[in-house]
Amino acid sequence: MAEQVRDPHRISGFSKFDKAQRRQWLLEHFLPEYGEDDFAFFEAGSPDLQEVLDNFSENTVANFPLPFGVAPNFIINGKTYAVPMVIEESSVVAAASSSAKYWSTRGGFHAEVIASEKLGQLHFRWSGRPERRAALFREVEDRLQEATADITARMEKRGGGVRRMQWKHFPQVDPQCYQLLVSFGTGDSMGANFINTVLETYAAELERWAEESAALSDDERELEIIMAILSNHTPNCAVKAWVSCPIEDMNIPGSGVDAADFVRRFEMAVAIAREDPYRAVTHNKGIMNGIDAVVLATGNDFRAVEAAAHAFAAAGGQYASLSRCRVTDKVFHFELTLPLALGTVGGLTRLHPLADLSLNLLERPDAEELMCIAAATGLAQNFAALRSLVTTGIQQGHMKMHLQNILSSLQASPPERRQTVSFFEGRTISHHGVRQYLDKLREGKVK
Ligand code: MEV
Repeated sequence: MAEQVRDPHRISGFSKFDKAQRRQWLLEHFLPEYGEDDFAFFEAGSPDLQEVLDNFSENTVANFPLPFGVAPNFIINGKTYAVPMVIEESSVVAAASSSAKYWSTRGGFHAEVIASEKLGQLHFRWSGRPERRAALFREVEDRLQEATADITARMEKRGGGVRRMQWKHFPQVDPQCYQLLVSFGTGDSMGANFINTVLETYAAELERWAEESAALSDDERELEIIMAILSNHTPNCAVKAWVSCPIEDMNIPGSGVDAADFVRRFEMAVAIAREDPYRAVTHNKGIMNGIDAVVLATGNDFRAVEAAAHAFAAAGGQYASLSRCRVTDKVFHFELTLPLALGTVGGLTRLHPLADLSLNLLERPDAEELMCIAAATGLAQNFAALRSLVTTGIQQGHMKMHLQNILSSLQASPPERRQTVSFFEGRTISHHGVRQYLDKLREGKVK
């Protein structure tokens, strides 16, 4: 028999520890070179704020700060925004800002919400035959609606509620596998809690229906709930953002290409991303740089947004670019359509003080306006990335922004930073090159 070895790295009851105990245990078992201060350093200034942050998640031991930046000069549907962006990658905010400025003199961004429907699914196993659904559906629907009337009444006052229901059969999974597919409006909230509460109430009521309904024969009474949860696939909660202007106005100063050439190369770059999934994933990653940053800054769920966006990108059977470009009658048109299930009330939107600040910065948009802002930021990001890619290449701008990170990793002092930045003006930046220069500077070999 194998000998039972006690693994000191395992623990039961970690979640019962208070924060100091959790830190202590980690220091003792995994991080001997660290101290309590390495966690405490990141503690929020106020104990009240720290408590709010600790309660967002579980087993918390520290805060993980990310930079909060702003991209000003975004004109979207004629209104000027300073867009809040939370992102750790250098050059993303600079690219969004530069794109916003570029388009501010070319008609700005336009955006419209195509639809704002959310979906939820209740999966169950039922002993009835699929053909019986038509005769029973009305009764089921009425019972479910009645059972959730209190919950939906509150949402209806906010412009949402349950819109439609379908009773689907999934014989591919099992001859007895069924799904209730429910369509919801969730007003200005993202709606996950509302949808899940309604679905779980439906689940309990469906079980009661199977036991009680006089319309069912004995062999139709076997019903087992499998699961009830919203769907993050939200193709009908979608927004379109676009920019457009005559080709002759599309000059890119310092790029070395004229406007017509730039547009030709740009259009081809988008066409490649529509054809080739390897390029499409990178192309869409650039779009999500902008979108995720706004989603995070406003306290929304970036994992839900990411999952939905990529499912949407693959809706045609092959993963493709979320943006499209066309030139008609010498006018350049560039657009982005994607699903964005966002909320401006509920969730973290008020609880996280910086999400609240972000929404104030945007002058408290409703959910649809926030969808437009996020989509325009994604399009701006995509434009900036392609503009660099088809002209100077991405590294020139990226490394310029990344220089500060290299200097941080080499512990450069403020005067060393200033001197290095000025030395690398117009020169190619690499980690090795910066290190060499800094070494010489420190040895007094350069002035
Ligand atoms: C980098 O974060 C994003 C890009 O790779 C996007 C793109 O290639 O389009 C620059």
